[in-house]
Amino acid sequence: MQRLRATTIALAVTGSIAAYKSAALARSLVQRGARVLPVMTRGAQKFLGAATLSGITGEAVSDDMWDASFAGEMHVSIADAADALVIAPATADVLARLASGRADDLVTAIALCAKGPILVAPAMHPRMWGHPATQANVARLIEHGRVQFVGPVFGEVASGDRGFGRMSEPDDIAAALVAALSPKDLATRRVLITAGPTFEDMDPVRFIGNRSTGKMGFAIAERASARGATVTLVAGPVTLATPRGVRRIDVRSAVEMREAMWQVASPDLSGVDAVIMAAAVADYRFSAIAPYKSKKQGEVVSISLLRNPDIIAEFGAARTGAFPALVAFALETIGGAALVEEARRKLRSKRVDVVVANEARSSLGGDDASVLLVDEISHAPVPLASKHDIADAILSAVARRLV
Ligand SMILES: Cc1cc2nc3c(=O)[nH]c(=O)nc-3n(C[C@H](O)[C@H](O)[C@H](O)COP(=O)(O)O)c2cc1C
Repeated sequence: MQRLRATTIALAVTGSIAAYKSAALARSLVQRGARVLPVMTRGAQKFLGAATLSGITGEAVSDDMWDASFAGEMHVSIADAADALVIAPATADVLARLASGRADDLVTAIALCAKGPILVAPAMHPRMWGHPATQANVARLIEHGRVQFVGPVFGEVASGDRGFGRMSEPDDIAAALVAALSPKDLATRRVLITAGPTFEDMDPVRFIGNRSTGKMGFAIAERASARGATVTLVAGPVTLATPRGVRRIDVRSAVEMREAMWQVASPDLSGVDAVIMAAAVADYRFSAIAPYKSKKQGEVVSISLLRNPDIIAEFGAARTGAFPALVAFALETIGGAALVEEARRKLRSKRVDVVVANEARSSLGGDDASVLLVDEISHAPVPLASKHDIADAILSAVARRLV
């Protein structure tokens, strides 16, 4: 979760009712490890107390660049200290000021002077957002190429009206910031990732599934996208939100997953640069799916199962050179040297580059896991870490193979 550790973020709040949400945003940034320097316009202080932001961030709120007790130039000091500037909420008025390069208040002066990324999360009534003057300001800011918009999104605004103008949720703004600050070592790379379980239907109401939640694959997709990759996520039946910027294809069974993957990769695998198979694909499916709910039978019943395709092994067999990079997962109930042995056996039999080996009891369902990254010559433990940190370790191994 600590994806913003060792960063300093200037959080500028302007005069919209959505200012109350910037308290949650400040908290979210602090929880992600950032030092947050709060800045407020005079308008913002009509909606949110400075004490709230100061209490959450542990920093004094800056609001007046003419404050004589400040030694030096306040806007330059904050711009120098901040790795990124987030303006959330951003009013129609501040967009106008930013678009015309004004610097007559602290927020716009910092924006002109900022070194790093500037994220702007507009919040206003849909008619204000849709007004040609606002849209012209947005177009101008996009043309300048200096700010990145997060939202606004469609939904209900303070007046009860619905439309585009609602501020993005604090967690989505925080995720956009994490992405903006991530290295772009996977830029131009096309990465295909699978996640979650597969469900193999027996009849219209019953199926065989497994306990995979999809969290690992979704974390890999989120981090790959943040690192600049073009990501396609083929997801089994899970209820997780699609990470920002990721194309998602929902499937149910192993056969559907295979079909979706081959469509993305194309038969000669030229459609992808890396494939990361984090899904827990069922090894077997029912030999036939009953069209009606099967009736209760005797005390013991037997079912007939067919072997499912081993999708990553098919990719391994189809690959001729070193591309695409292939990563498989091995979830085992064994540990230690036996786990490494099993991972390497899989690596060879499936002809993949890296096997991410983990023990079921330490990784299924939770937010943290510990894994081994096993390749042909080495095995590197990634000790207990968040699934996002493990995702980064896997993606670094992939990035090294793509140079
Ligand atoms: C109750 C109230 C709610 C407002 N809500 C918004 C809003 O959501 N978005 C917006 O762009 N302006 C809103 N305004 C107008 C701005 O506060 C006003 O344009 C102000 O000058 C913005 O200054 P600032 O950008 O320096 O904070 C609101 C004003 C009032 C009185």
